[in-house]
Amino acid sequence: MSDRQFLNYIDGAWVPGSGSDPIADLNPADLRKVIGYCTDSTADDVDAAVEAGKKAFAAWRATPAPVRGRICRDAARLFEERTEEIGRVLTMEEGKVLAEAKGEVLKGAVLVEWFAGEARRLNGETVPSEIPNTFAYTTRQPLGVVGLITPWNFPMAIPAWKIAPALVAGNTVVIKGAEQTPWVTELVVKTFVDAGVPPGVLNMVQGRGATAGARLVAHPDVHAISFTGSTEIGEMIYAQGAALGKRVQCELGGKNPIIVLDDADVGMAVAAAAKGGFGSTGQRCTATSRSIVQRGVLDEFVSKMADAARAVVPGDGLDPATTMGPSVDSDQFGKVHEYLQIGKDEGAEVVVGGSRASDGELGHGLFTQPTLWMVDRSMRVAREEIFGPVMSVVPVDSFDEAIEVANAVDYGLTSSIYTQDVNTVFQYVDRIETGMLHVNSPTIGGEAQLPFGGIKKTGIGPREMGTQAIDFFCEWKVVYIDYGGGMRGGNLY
Ligand code: NAI
Ligand code: MG
Repeated sequence: MSDRQFLNYIDGAWVPGSGSDPIADLNPADLRKVIGYCTDSTADDVDAAVEAGKKAFAAWRATPAPVRGRICRDAARLFEERTEEIGRVLTMEEGKVLAEAKGEVLKGAVLVEWFAGEARRLNGETVPSEIPNTFAYTTRQPLGVVGLITPWNFPMAIPAWKIAPALVAGNTVVIKGAEQTPWVTELVVKTFVDAGVPPGVLNMVQGRGATAGARLVAHPDVHAISFTGSTEIGEMIYAQGAALGKRVQCELGGKNPIIVLDDADVGMAVAAAAKGGFGSTGQRCTATSRSIVQRGVLDEFVSKMADAARAVVPGDGLDPATTMGPSVDSDQFGKVHEYLQIGKDEGAEVVVGGSRASDGELGHGLFTQPTLWMVDRSMRVAREEIFGPVMSVVPVDSFDEAIEVANAVDYGLTSSIYTQDVNTVFQYVDRIETGMLHVNSPTIGGEAQLPFGGIKKTGIGPREMGTQAIDFFCEWKVVYIDYGGGMRGGNLY
């Protein structure tokens, strides 16, 4: 038991929210373990945080970009030093195994480090003018106060990869982290502050989406919203933001396929599908949730995949023997089990798993048996995001059919193909409807220097990561300087 309180960080001070209904922060591996309480914030707390951001903006935008970058560089170093500390908290709050949690922190550090470098490349362009004696150039400027709304599944990396480009570009920030993982969000903010981010430049409001999150979206002085989470909330935020003339970036759901063709290295494909399907308990936006398998290798794939599913050891992520943690909270666990029922009702044929994992100590946590089942492409479980350790196998006759099935969903984040044929690979690159794709490697992952995001209902607005991420947080300004000394001639339009 712990009565640790996770507070807001506003204008350089740790303060409680003004709501009266704190949210219990439970360890999903053992619900008897209360980690602490997340403070309950109201619109007033968000308003105070935005006010602090507005006040701090002038000095922060006047701070040279490379100096802003150096603070991010120092934050990246601190994240590296704190990998173990933040990793352990992440495992306790979110449930992923410690190796994955530490991997996430290191990944976040790399992202922050990369954005720190971009601070020295916040370039505009000089462009030849068609008017004599005219110098034309572009320059980038910050937007002002920006709002970040983040989910629980990568509670360190997602805040880090949104905060860093926002700060490097010269904006001040209000972040509303996920209510399931307030401690990790707190540690992320603390680390940026310890690295030298001045008071008011980075503010954090903890609490619920419907209150704190909604006010951040509605606040007239918040110029942009970067959101990661469910498609349902993302589409709502996009509509609200549009009505208020805000810039909105949303990274939403996925139903990522791995295509395994007759000429594939099946062992490698199975390893990738198991890693992408059961890794992080299937709670990645890039998780592999469909295996689209050509009939020539179907039996081999299913039998090896069943072995891989049986080899998974669910448990507390702090136990080194564990290879898969729990669902993050009762809602998410409930969603997974609702889908397991929907699939069974639709006629999905369970090969392995399909139920709760509740032997012994597991009964105190939110564990699900890694599940492998054969489905028909038309079933809901073959098209909708489950966000749990559930792998749906869809048999197909040909590459063309594989592409058709892969594209027959609303989402388009990432995908993967296993084949040895170079013609097929390039056909796949042309025809697959995903923002990222992998050839002979798992669907998961994304590097700092490359844009991250998807198409269709997965992504709205410019990509995250890469130089594109900075673009979202900047306004372009075009400058024409006439040094001719008189009224300019030529075509004026
Ligand atoms: P969610 O979209 O409700 O929550 C994400 C963030 O948005 C949280 O910080 C939450 O407090 C905030 N939020 C919720 N309602 C809001 C509102 N009305 N206005 C402003 N902010 C609001 O996602 P949730 O409930 O945690 O998960 C539901 C499903 O979403 C998952 O089962 C999964 O399918 C998907 N998801 C996808 C993620 C991804 O990486 N793309 C991450 C998390 C969830
Ligand atoms: Mg929700």
